[in-house]
Amino acid sequence: MKFFQEYLDTINKAIAGIPYPSQPSQLYEPISYHMALGGKRVRPVLTLMACDAMGGDINEAIDAAVGLEMFHNFTLLHDDVMDNADVRRGKPTVHRRWNDNTAILSGDTMLTIATQYIARTANWQVMDLFNKTAIEIYEGQQWDMDFELRNDVTVEEYINMIRLKTSVLLGCALKTGALIADVDEQDAELLYQAGVNMGLAFQLRDDVLDVWGDPKTFGKEIGGDIMQGKKTFLLINAMQLAQGDDADELRHWLNDPYATRDNKVAGVTALYERLGVRELAEQAITSYNDLAVNAFSQVKMSDDDKQAFIALSNRLAGRNY
Ligand code: IPE
Ligand code: IPE
Ligand code: MG
Ligand code: MG
Ligand code: MG
Repeated sequence: MKFFQEYLDTINKAIAGIPYPSQPSQLYEPISYHMALGGKRVRPVLTLMACDAMGGDINEAIDAAVGLEMFHNFTLLHDDVMDNADVRRGKPTVHRRWNDNTAILSGDTMLTIATQYIARTANWQVMDLFNKTAIEIYEGQQWDMDFELRNDVTVEEYINMIRLKTSVLLGCALKTGALIADVDEQDAELLYQAGVNMGLAFQLRDDVLDVWGDPKTFGKEIGGDIMQGKKTFLLINAMQLAQGDDADELRHWLNDPYATRDNKVAGVTALYERLGVRELAEQAITSYNDLAVNAFSQVKMSDDDKQAFIALSNRLAGRNY
């Protein structure tokens, strides 16, 4: 197993080498803009790591890894339209720098480019997993939007929603690497489960950073979820725990159309702190990360490889970026 940075260099080189036609520039410029902004590149690195750990040739996994990162970036272009987000990776989102139509059509193109890269693996299991995962993500994104309009979302529904919108792609990234390395079904499934649990911790951390993160390292505007009425783990728990004046105040912030952004974000954040929901989120992150660590430990691979996956899972669960 190599260091994370070496897999990252391999991926970044492959992404930098993607050839885009020059015309229509309004279609392709936003794609190269977004792909060049970087980001953590978690999914493609997971694919390469899994392939390597399971004894495969990582050169055979590069196309799939690039495809998954392209796919992830496509979801972000559309997600930022849906979430009305201005900033991503510290830069203006595509729909703000260009417009909504550009984000839609460049996003569509990225989805198809992603599919082309995945297809190059000429592996039907990989292709099937990718398509199944993509549809699950759209389902998760639809639940995420449906939940904005509901006030009775349960923690169980939330966990299912983030499993779909975020976690299955991490599972898919790991299993894809394993499939390319031609491992047995049991290890492929364990890696998938590890990825899903890692992904649950990953999205819970994203929700926490959306409230308490530093925009300089997180790269997104703080308070976006609060402004959009997202039913995050934090808000669902706050709605269940708030009593008396706290409950009135939370209802006020959620329903007052005239509240300014700063006041609303500060008001809801203060309530979250008073109600202790951040601690609940931290506990949930720890327990999903533990499940991921446990699944990684059961995969038939060297102890060094296990430690590399576990270290990455721990790092992402505790990240500030
Ligand atoms: C953002 O994904 C969307 C979520 C699933 C939270 P990342 O946090 O992996 O974003 P980048 O690719 O590093 O920018
Ligand atoms: C994003 O969830 C999940 C997908 C893009 C599929 P979020 O909406 O929380 O992601 P960010 O915070 O905008 O990156
Ligand atoms: Mg979203
Ligand atoms: Mg979003
Ligand atoms: Mg988020």
